[in-house]
Amino acid sequence: MILAFLNQKGGVGKTTLAVHVAAALARNGARVLLIDADPQGSALDWAACRTADPLFPVIGFPKPKLHKEVPAHIPHYEYIIIDGPPRVNELARSAIMAADWVVIPVQPSPYDVWAAKDIVDLIREATTYRETLKSVFVINRRIVNTAIGRDVAEALAGYDIPVLATHIGQRVAFAESAANGSTVLEDDPGSLASKEILALAEELLGRKTKQEAAT
Ligand SMILES: Nc1ncnc2c1ncn2[C@@H]1O[C@H](COP(=O)(O)OP(=O)(O)OP(=O)(O)O)[C@@H](O)[C@H]1O
Ligand SMILES: [Mg+2]
Repeated sequence: MILAFLNQKGGVGKTTLAVHVAAALARNGARVLLIDADPQGSALDWAACRTADPLFPVIGFPKPKLHKEVPAHIPHYEYIIIDGPPRVNELARSAIMAADWVVIPVQPSPYDVWAAKDIVDLIREATTYRETLKSVFVINRRIVNTAIGRDVAEALAGYDIPVLATHIGQRVAFAESAANGSTVLEDDPGSLASKEILALAEELLGRKTKQEAAT
């Protein structure tokens, strides 16, 4: 299963969620590879400042040939997670071509929802020749104890892409854990942040299973 975290908008949580979903999947002993496809190299930086044993390998491949590189890794990993670049460009196109699933983090703000149009258009373009490509929105940085605004829910419904039921809250633990190459799953396994991440990974796997059953 190849999951690409993509959104051309910067700072929406692509790297945070890619690292955490990779960690959640690796926890159960699955072989996971994280590919940093962002020239900024944030996931590589995360791995470099880690002092604990690696949970999974992280490789950098911020090149438009990504979709040609990924198949060589498929036999060796159950899950390949791609952390995408904050641009709509050849790199993002290549990440979409490489992926089974595109996961689009969005913050619960109408601006973010409108800005998602670019990535939605790119996915739509790709599905014309990749019918099996799946995509989902995941709401990240939701302010705890607030409803997602009606505007946001309505605007997201306007796209032809489902929104995951799991939302990830605005929690400082995500930034804190990143600072030492760790994850909330390791730093505070019982925390709400951890529970949200595990729920997110489970929901993604559940969708995959459903998809497989249907085909
Ligand atoms: N749920 C969250 N709660 C609190 N902080 C968060 C959350 N998600 C992300 N952040 C913080 O927001 C900042 C941006 O997140 P991140 O780097 O994951 O976004 P990105 O989409 O990968 O950005 P870029 O487009 O630059 O690659 C980081 O400082 C991160 O720690
Ligand atoms: Mg990033």
